[in-house]
Amino acid sequence: MKKPKVLVTRQVANEAVSLLETAADVEVWKQDEPIPRELFLEKVESSDGILAMLTERIDEELLDRAQRLRVVANMAVGYDNIDLAACKKRDIWVTNTPDVLTEATADLAFALMMATGRRLMEANRFLLNGEWKSWSPSLLAGQNVYGATLGIIGMGRIGEAVARRAKGFGMRILYYNRSQKQQAEAETGAELVSLEALLRESDYVVLLTPLTAETRLLMGEKQFSWMKPTSVFINVSRGGTVDETALYQALVNKQIWAAGLDVFQQEPVPLDHPLLTLPNVVALPHIGSATEQTRAEMARLAAANIVAVLGGQRPLTPL
Ligand code: DGY
Repeated sequence: MKKPKVLVTRQVANEAVSLLETAADVEVWKQDEPIPRELFLEKVESSDGILAMLTERIDEELLDRAQRLRVVANMAVGYDNIDLAACKKRDIWVTNTPDVLTEATADLAFALMMATGRRLMEANRFLLNGEWKSWSPSLLAGQNVYGATLGIIGMGRIGEAVARRAKGFGMRILYYNRSQKQQAEAETGAELVSLEALLRESDYVVLLTPLTAETRLLMGEKQFSWMKPTSVFINVSRGGTVDETALYQALVNKQIWAAGLDVFQQEPVPLDHPLLTLPNVVALPHIGSATEQTRAEMARLAAANIVAVLGGQRPLTPL
């Protein structure tokens, strides 16, 4: 019997590819750039499974060409690049990679809080530019992290992991979520509040919601106006949750103090983007889960999901 075919849209950990090879003929797109759309459309015609990245759009146009497709394993916890309803209609499994990236992403959220609150990038540029002439009491003074109030928007797994870190930093923790998280409350003392209360009271606001119709542009002019002039805004979810013009205005008008952004509406963010011109913005190229260990785990889990489906089993982490 002919082996099924799996397309892997980027170079991933060898172990993941080896695992896939136990069940399929595997083709890996090895270049650093995403696979060109036209070529992708061509290749899915003969694919039974795709191990996809968040850079690949899985939509009706693609699925119409993918007559053999049985599973799309997204190597990310977010899946706003995939039309779930269109996959469901065609009985195609879609999976993501929850849990394995929780701690790495929470680390990055916390790193951004500290880098932004304590002005690390500015300080580093200051030193490298030869501007450091002497110690001075107000030189590059930032905002306290220890003991501050943290507001978490979207208390999923990553939110809870950020809250656990915040507890160690003696922070008061507020959260805004569709449902109450009793375990997180018991573990970290987090309090469920309205979005407005969270924004008004928090010194650090960390946005962690998935991008959905409900959360698109969740943070706009009104929401930024509720924040304090000393508050820091962090986004490690998806750029689409934030009105970037409103964020820029809030920063320029000193309605908020600084922003740490791992994600943007358009990625890669254009270098002439106004947000990149501000000294109080720490911008990163979507590296929330980017540790060697975590990326290998994500690839392994995505591969295991494909192997399960091709073997007639239910995948491990279906959507
Ligand atoms: C995700 O998993 O959704 C991140 O954005 C990439 O790791």
